[in-house]
Amino acid sequence: MKVLGIETSCDETAVAVLEIKNNSVKVLSNIISSQVKLHAKYGGVVPNLAAREHVKNISHVFKLALKEAKINDFKKEIDLIAVTRGPGLGPALLVGITFAKTIAWKYEKPLIGTSHLEGHIASNFLRKVGVISNFSRFQRNRGSSTKSGQFLISKKEAPILNLIVSGNHTELVLMLGHGKYKLIGETLDDAIGEAFDKVARLLGLGYPGGPLISKLAEKGNPDHYPLPSPMIHAKNYNFSYSGLKTAVLYLLKELNFPIRNSPACAGRKFVIKNSRTKADIASSFQKSAIDVLLKKTMKAAAEYKVKSIFLSGGVSANNQLRTRLRKEARDNKINYSQPDLAYTGDNAAMIALAGYFSSRNKKAQELTWDSVEMDANLRF
Ligand code: KG4
Ligand code: ZN
Repeated sequence: MKVLGIETSCDETAVAVLEIKNNSVKVLSNIISSQVKLHAKYGGVVPNLAAREHVKNISHVFKLALKEAKINDFKKEIDLIAVTRGPGLGPALLVGITFAKTIAWKYEKPLIGTSHLEGHIASNFLRKVGVISNFSRFQRNRGSSTKSGQFLISKKEAPILNLIVSGNHTELVLMLGHGKYKLIGETLDDAIGEAFDKVARLLGLGYPGGPLISKLAEKGNPDHYPLPSPMIHAKNYNFSYSGLKTAVLYLLKELNFPIRNSPACAGRKFVIKNSRTKADIASSFQKSAIDVLLKKTMKAAAEYKVKSIFLSGGVSANNQLRTRLRKEARDNKINYSQPDLAYTGDNAAMIALAGYFSSRNKKAQELTWDSVEMDANLRF
């Protein structure tokens, strides 16, 4: 069967087509139109601007995705439409949902609303465009199965602990199989990606800050500035990143660095000259931010006796996080999976696959064009 995915929860307008056959998935197309440049001057995503751009771009992105997937007859060839219904920015989500409802109605196709977080989790099962992968993340060629036989996550793999890290989320989610989730921890304030973006702004690096900080951090000394790792010793699995960002702000003040947000710097082209110090700050910040993730993830992995750890979300592109988490998992004899770099950021292929997984638990009458509602605070 072929599934069309639509994603507009934040600042990417994305449409993808998947082919699903014999418990394996092939990405036929994965088109993403990013609005990063538009939002860069505001240092973050402006919801109404994002929605306006989605309206402008979505039909073009849709046509490109069909063309690349060689879909000539939508009505005959597409079997299911999946769209992100939350969490995300309300105005942005509504554009994708309205578009999805319109085509589902026009072509009389089943429609499913998908959680963006389930999408990030599903990104672990995707390969590059044109490459087939089995739903079983670790036993790709052998094909393991659960009792229902529907979803291929075997007893050797589950329970799985998901660490979802992005611009809006820092979540630990226990997973027993596709569709069976339990949220065990989340951020109480800023998400980790947001902290990367804000610290990058303080350092005058640009937006989005994650890739810029991680690149600069490679040149710095992670132990040069002792920064806090908030809630690292707390008994629960929640996170907090606003304190770390504030600690960087105080450090910059102490070092007499010009602060980008201060009135004295308003309107000026902004450069912090001492690049060695900047690299040390970036490196120390990155280490503190990742230390908490590792500590909590490994503690939860032990308490819940998980067999696998899945990393996902925009921040899962971070090289240090990938390397350190893989090593921790290996040292503790736990399977480890991370998405291909093509699927760490927001995309519609992951939404199509998550939508396919949840559609297996639904009846036909729950998949009509008018059955999907937006929920900006949705979890699972
Ligand atoms: O998943 P995503 O594309 O969008 C949301 O759902 O939020 O994540 C975007 C976030 C941004 O905050 C960006 O700075 C961060 O992912 N990011 C990174 C890296 N690449 C992207 N953070 C740290 N290191 C990276 N290499
Ligand atoms: Zn995301």
